[in-house]
Amino acid sequence: MNLRIVPFLFLMIMACKSPDTSSPINKSLSVTPKPLITNTKQGYFELTKETVFICNDSSSKVVANFFIEKIKTVTDLSFSISIDTTAKNSIKLTKEGTSNFGDEEYHLSIEEQGIQIKAKTDKGLFYGLQTFLQLLPLYENDKMVLPIKIQAVEINDKPRFVWRGMHLDVSRHFFSIDFIKKQLDILALFKINKFHWHLTDDQGWRIEIKKYPKLTEIGSKRKNNDGSYHEGFYTQEEVKEVVQYAKERFIDVVPEFDTPGHAIAILAAYPELSCHKDSYEVRNLWGVESSILCAGKEETYSFIEDVIKELSALFPYEYYHMGGDEVPKDQWKDSPLCQDLKKRKGLKDENELQSYFMSRVEKILSKYQKKMIGWDEILEGGITPTTNIMSWQGEEGGIKAANKGHDVIMTPAKFCYFNFYQGDFKVEPLAFGGYIPLEKVYTYDPIPKEIEEDKKKHILGAQGNVWTEYTYKDETIEYLLYPRIIALAETTWTQKENKKYDDFLNRLHEAYNILDYNNIEYHIPLPEGPTSNKIAFIDSVNVSFTTTHPVKMVYTTDGTNPDANSKVYADTLNFTKNTDLRIISILKNGKMSAIRNISVVKEKPLAPVTLSKESKGLLMKEVKGYFTNVTEIKDTAKIRTSAITKIKDANTTYHWGHEVNKDNFRAVFLDGYIDIPEDGVYYFASAQDQVWIAGQLVLNYNTPLKKHPIESSIALQKGKHKLKIVYLNNIAKGWATDWNTVELKYRKASEEDYREVDENMIFH
Ligand code: ACM
Repeated sequence: MNLRIVPFLFLMIMACKSPDTSSPINKSLSVTPKPLITNTKQGYFELTKETVFICNDSSSKVVANFFIEKIKTVTDLSFSISIDTTAKNSIKLTKEGTSNFGDEEYHLSIEEQGIQIKAKTDKGLFYGLQTFLQLLPLYENDKMVLPIKIQAVEINDKPRFVWRGMHLDVSRHFFSIDFIKKQLDILALFKINKFHWHLTDDQGWRIEIKKYPKLTEIGSKRKNNDGSYHEGFYTQEEVKEVVQYAKERFIDVVPEFDTPGHAIAILAAYPELSCHKDSYEVRNLWGVESSILCAGKEETYSFIEDVIKELSALFPYEYYHMGGDEVPKDQWKDSPLCQDLKKRKGLKDENELQSYFMSRVEKILSKYQKKMIGWDEILEGGITPTTNIMSWQGEEGGIKAANKGHDVIMTPAKFCYFNFYQGDFKVEPLAFGGYIPLEKVYTYDPIPKEIEEDKKKHILGAQGNVWTEYTYKDETIEYLLYPRIIALAETTWTQKENKKYDDFLNRLHEAYNILDYNNIEYHIPLPEGPTSNKIAFIDSVNVSFTTTHPVKMVYTTDGTNPDANSKVYADTLNFTKNTDLRIISILKNGKMSAIRNISVVKEKPLAPVTLSKESKGLLMKEVKGYFTNVTEIKDTAKIRTSAITKIKDANTTYHWGHEVNKDNFRAVFLDGYIDIPEDGVYYFASAQDQVWIAGQLVLNYNTPLKKHPIESSIALQKGKHKLKIVYLNNIAKGWATDWNTVELKYRKASEEDYREVDENMIFH
């Protein structure tokens, strides 16, 4: 990825065509997030090589210079800053007459005589300039040719919420500071102002702490089952670099140091901070670790203070996130020290012990003038009046906290977890789970109706979170993040009454150009409808497609890949013969989605077999070993065979945590016959590695990296057909499948819902 061109943030707008200097270039006035008030005026301003910035204080000069540098990269032209406040053809930044402005408010006035951006703060000026730059074009060869005419307009703008955030988990997978800076550039463009950096978790500690070197020597390295390591951490110098970079873009960096759970990477380095004297390893599977920091030991609080002390020199902002989520408290129940503390403090249960723990952490933070944020679980045992809540499990925690007068940031998983799917999981690349299409983010209101009128002010805003269990490439983060974070930017910036989804979608086309310019791998809705890439039929079949939000689809049926000139998909397609169907979504800027390649296959229903002798159930054959692909199973001499009556009874040895034992890994075959009730086309769905029916490989997952069942179809006659299911019952490279039961489901092509292949349908 070319990171050198990343920062040229304003390079947006419009396809590459020569400027029409006869009319203003920004007639559409497309700005995202949508400003509060936009009034188009008569005339235009001409931006020329002679245009100067006027600043009347040194800090607004810094802001002006930031943009001058950016403009230089597209014009090779360096605008100068003048102190002559009467200079003609100028872009004036001023703080005069703004005492009643909000901190992030700006007024942008474009008139024939000049441009003026008024704000009370540098941040306001920065946002005014960001808006101004969204009104400029990006021309051929990435160069903007002056002079250009800019439509006269008056924009008065301020945000709905003060917290417009993005969160990134760098524990499950580590991401470079260059990647983070690239994202900060884009976030600033859309006026996102908080970067929540999830730096510590069970699967890796990712920040240098000088007093505790083992946190990174040991805690930043995760050993995969195949012996390789996932590792990485940020030095304090790198953290400073990111924080400074964010500061220049008016983004506060909020560190998260997760306590008292999600802490086994700490215990791997310093086991003495646990309630037991075990030795620990950085967790190499997802999920929640039961080993946590010991609440009953003073050393734990000293450790936390030492870390906060070092963090406070790196993160100058008021909010620190101290986690508090998903804390299994069994170790506290078994710990004499915790139980003694509970008794001494008169605490009713372990939830109250967590409250005690978090209140101590909050006290430590307050010594460093920091305010604590915790995930909503910390409400369970009660919180101090000054604790701030990040509501993730749903909106309920946030509602409860706000109604009690606590400040709240809304990140409910069902609206704000961008690691969730944004289209049909059967069509999209692997993601965490869930379903949050763009519209759901856009229409989310961070102030639920259950919040009392006078408590609404406690909702500081909302944030999009990206957890990275299933996300280990830069491109994948970008694919998950964009454009949903742009929808969230508008949700948190723009007044509710001012938002319209259709209008946002129109403006999004210009935002796509910004993303393209910055080499962002954003999501383009995939053609959805068929959930498998093979569609069997007997006489003819209708195939329909949709997308999560409106976008043109084009397709071919001649075996070539579709492009901008291919046939536009308008309505249901009908097929009567074998067809190689390829379909894509294509944006106005010509950018194409991944291709869906679907085999539409005319089949004669396969004839059944006749069994001379049969028993109910299937034969299960197991081969011990660690396999990542079915073809690796060679050592059939070690096969162990037994009979099972239900597919669900098949042996699975899924392991969690550090009980993972390679000796238990195996491949399993289930062999026998499936009884098909009537002639027809059948769809099968399974998350197993392979499913063979009537000797045909119907499903071929064949990887340990799986998350959801896959589907396919085959035409079958009524009666018994050979059935073979193969699965690789192991866990590779820290990836776990969610299936700990073996399943095979089926439906007739004409039916919507799948049914289980039950014990009455299987024989051997
Ligand atoms: C969380 O998703 N455990 C905050």
